Amino acid sequence: MEQKTRIKGNIHYVGVNDRSKHRFESMWPLPYGVSYNSYLIDDEMIALIDTVDICYFEVYLRKIKQVIGERPIDYLIINHMEPDHSGSIRLIKQHYPNIIIVGNKQTFGMIEGFYGVTGEQYLVKDGDFLALGRHKLRFYMTPMVHWPETMMTFDETDGVLFSGDGFGCFGTLDGGFLDIRMNLDKYWGEMVRYYSNIVGKYGSPVQKALQKLGGLPISTICSTHGPVWTKNIAKVIGIYDV
Ligand SMILES: [Fe+2]
Ligand SMILES: [Fe+2]
Repeated sequence: MEQKTRIKGNIHYVGVNDRSKHRFESMWPLPYGVSYNSYLIDDEMIALIDTVDICYFEVYLRKIKQVIGERPIDYLIINHMEPDHSGSIRLIKQHYPNIIIVGNKQTFGMIEGFYGVTGEQYLVKDGDFLALGRHKLRFYMTPMVHWPETMMTFDETDGVLFSGDGFGCFGTLDGGFLDIRMNLDKYWGEMVRYYSNIVGKYGSPVQKALQKLGGLPISTICSTHGPVWTKNIAKVIGIYDV
């Protein structure tokens, strides 16, 4: 049976929608809500990429188990530490005590400071690599897009960029998460609003990140907010390239 979570191959969407928050970071209105996206790669080794706001942990864990059942997760990759994405780290670690957290030097200081989480770590630097089996992941440091620890993870096997808040937009995902299967009307305005209020304040780091990612053969963008982009990549990158 085709799994409702599948993006492509064994990459799955396990994010959640927040329809109750009125203002993002207590400031920016959310007329269409917001999604907190997380992704699962179900390879020989299983990797979870970013988590979700802690308020949604129960539904989040249910979605993870729909994909992998009771199998353990090997790696938790943290691209960004803002609580809308890092909030479930402590509970994930409780459920999967042997999980290895993947992050950079800045990430680990924050994880311990925010959540008191320690344990096995894989500390990555720009260009470092992690093989899950078929999927080969490479890590790109993108500091200040839009926090100091922000990085992106690129799946070289399928050309999937897990971009953290980069290329994100406001708006919940209603009935689907792939851009090709959704009415995108509301998202374009919400992307401009997200970019200009949250990420675009860091114009120069964004440009540096775009230069770094420019040569990658990106087929899919999996951001931490909004649809998964497969068809509209040039338009999405264009909105962030101002
Ligand atoms: Fe953020
Ligand atoms: Fe975010």
